[in-house]
Amino acid sequence: MIKYITETTEYLISKGFKNPEIGIILGTGLGQLIDEINILHEVSYNHIPNFPTATVEFHKGKLIFGILENKKVIVMQGRFHVYEGYSLQDVTYPVRIMKKLGIHTLLVSNAAGAINLNFKKGQLMLIEDHINLQGSSPLAFKGVEHLGERFTDMSAPYNLDINSKFKTIAKNKNITLHEGVYASVVGPQLETRAEYRMLKTIGADAVGMSTVPEIIVANHLNLKAAAVSVLTDECDPTNLKPIDINEIIAMAEKAEPHMITLFKELIKNL
Ligand code: HPA
Repeated sequence: MIKYITETTEYLISKGFKNPEIGIILGTGLGQLIDEINILHEVSYNHIPNFPTATVEFHKGKLIFGILENKKVIVMQGRFHVYEGYSLQDVTYPVRIMKKLGIHTLLVSNAAGAINLNFKKGQLMLIEDHINLQGSSPLAFKGVEHLGERFTDMSAPYNLDINSKFKTIAKNKNITLHEGVYASVVGPQLETRAEYRMLKTIGADAVGMSTVPEIIVANHLNLKAAAVSVLTDECDPTNLKPIDINEIIAMAEKAEPHMITLFKELIKNL
């Protein structure tokens, strides 16, 4: 893996991706942050050596380098999911690349279902902790100890300082920002009523199909990490309606201006 990482990094440096400070992973329907960035360079995933290639059509699949709030940022427009057939190592490979290029902080967004029924669709949730239900670990491979501590500490996977900044910003800007536990599942099927009941019982406030592997690897690499979910649907097992993926995407887009404000203000204050 080290050889691949070096090759990918050298390619991106040759394309001008030099000394990024902050990495950002944009989830479903959250792509508009791109419009706020002074883009200096961009490359499609399928041109980057050793990168997995994008498959889900609503993901544009680009790596972007630019300036946001006077900071050098590297942005993943579209991420890789286990449900697309990628391994957990593939899904998290870009995080390793962003670290190698120089980022000190990783910010992540995603779309999630609300398990905590005090949380409503269209609102945002700051991830305070997580539960990995994807069946394996992105660190479960031979040689992982050459890239970081194998037995990675997960006592505070989401940076407390960044989270407190997020909460202050939300308060000042009058944005509802819940705080809770995010459970990651493989998908791509949505959950059954029994699964939603289980998720509630084990302490999840939201459920989604991403983020956790990226955060595990960020911790493996000693990056400061934080993540915010847009709640796109309410997972009430006693009154479960068939899910409409277009509604999920539309709900994610509706919450986008708030998400953009949070991210921009945070980056200004990092
Ligand atoms: N379950 C899993 N992933 C999701 C959901 C959900 O209800 N909503 C958005 N992503």
